[in-house]
Amino acid sequence: MTATPWAGARIRPAQTGPAPRRRGALTDMETAARAAYALRGNDRGPHTVAAPGLYPHMWSWDAAFIAIGLARLSPARALTEMETLLAAQWRTGMVPHIVFSDGSDGEGSYEPGPARWACRDVCADAPEGPATSGLMQPPVHGAAIRRILDAALRAAPTERRAATDRIRALWPALLAWHRYLADRRDPDRRGLLTIYHGWESGLDNSPRWDAPYAAVVPPAAFTPFRRADVHALDALGGGAAQRPTDLDYSRYQWLIEELREARYDDARARESLSFRVADVLSSAIFAAAAEELATVADELALPGVDELIAHADRFRRGVAATTDDDGFAADIDLRTGRTLRTRTVAGFAPLLSGGLEPARRRRLVDTLFSPDWCGHPALATALPPSTSPSSPAFDPARYWRGPQWPPMTWLLIWGLERSGEPEAAAVLRASALDQLSDGLFAEYYHPFTGEALGARPQSWTAAVALDLAFTG
Ligand code: SER
Repeated sequence: MTATPWAGARIRPAQTGPAPRRRGALTDMETAARAAYALRGNDRGPHTVAAPGLYPHMWSWDAAFIAIGLARLSPARALTEMETLLAAQWRTGMVPHIVFSDGSDGEGSYEPGPARWACRDVCADAPEGPATSGLMQPPVHGAAIRRILDAALRAAPTERRAATDRIRALWPALLAWHRYLADRRDPDRRGLLTIYHGWESGLDNSPRWDAPYAAVVPPAAFTPFRRADVHALDALGGGAAQRPTDLDYSRYQWLIEELREARYDDARARESLSFRVADVLSSAIFAAAAEELATVADELALPGVDELIAHADRFRRGVAATTDDDGFAADIDLRTGRTLRTRTVAGFAPLLSGGLEPARRRRLVDTLFSPDWCGHPALATALPPSTSPSSPAFDPARYWRGPQWPPMTWLLIWGLERSGEPEAAAVLRASALDQLSDGLFAEYYHPFTGEALGARPQSWTAAVALDLAFTG
């Protein structure tokens, strides 16, 4: 393992005194230290493995959250994470959702592996370097670059200079990524990103996708791949009840077959895929990330400020146009034109992208803290579950159908801070740190029992813990 330059990290805990926490909980300082240790353990030199065992490679939005955490310790190491990811960028500008590594983490056990995707065999736009998947994930990267620059600006002059030089070198790739999203994933310019697979949303089996997935029907003779995910989770005492179902997986794999058939070509995919959805949460993340990158461009005199601001405006309006009277946003099934109003955490997207008038924003924040969400009386920690416990689709232990996910909490805290709701952000931050004070850095948590679920230590959970433990 390559040594990570933790030394010299400026640690400024948000709260060093005793916290009003459950018995045996870690202080914020201890949580941060343990999170740094977990990230170090998952560090493979040029990248951080998403989670040993279950996710033995690099995932795109995981890498962005990991960089946000690493920025607290070392802007240089955080930049390495972004450089490794962007080195696998497609010629279209797409940043792939998985960059496969070959090392000793049991990589061969992850399904679907590079052979299933066969990206380079069928598409000239796939990169020549490491093997990748042929999908994308939510574009959190702009937020990471902003955080890295903030950390670099607080560093010593040589470190600052080195980091800003590296951000400059990454700039064409970052702009190409945002152009890909704006041009190829929103060709009708409605301000909403089109996704081709639930995996692209990052919220794989969320009930928000139940209706569109019902139209994904693999042929009768179709044999899905081995459930390596369930096998890996069994080793942690979890297993099938915490993962998407076999039916979900047969659809996931069938969509990969369809995409491969379309040669990962955006125009063809739009014509032929049996799943095509406008994703409000990814769109809101895109708007916010574009706004963050515009400030970076402005400060470093880099090109693209106007373009980035125009993207932010377009997607902010696109997300706002899907909202109900309380500001809750809805995805759209682009194959049927139907609006998807399932009560999932994605509905809070406008808290990330902004653009709601203050009264409606207030109603959305009130909804977030209502008994349907963080105020539900049975919650172990007052944090938003991935699906409202009041929804018939709620399933408390099953991946994105109910559990609480720390990076989702981080996004909401970030959005609340950005959209002028600092008190609400502070309340969520305190609850998030309470949850994370178990020091386990689980992939997700059971909302009623508080049990750590999924993989652990999951790098992105450790990363958001590290970031939340510090202020400024
Ligand atoms: N989240 C998916 C998985 O569980 C991949 O993106 O493997």
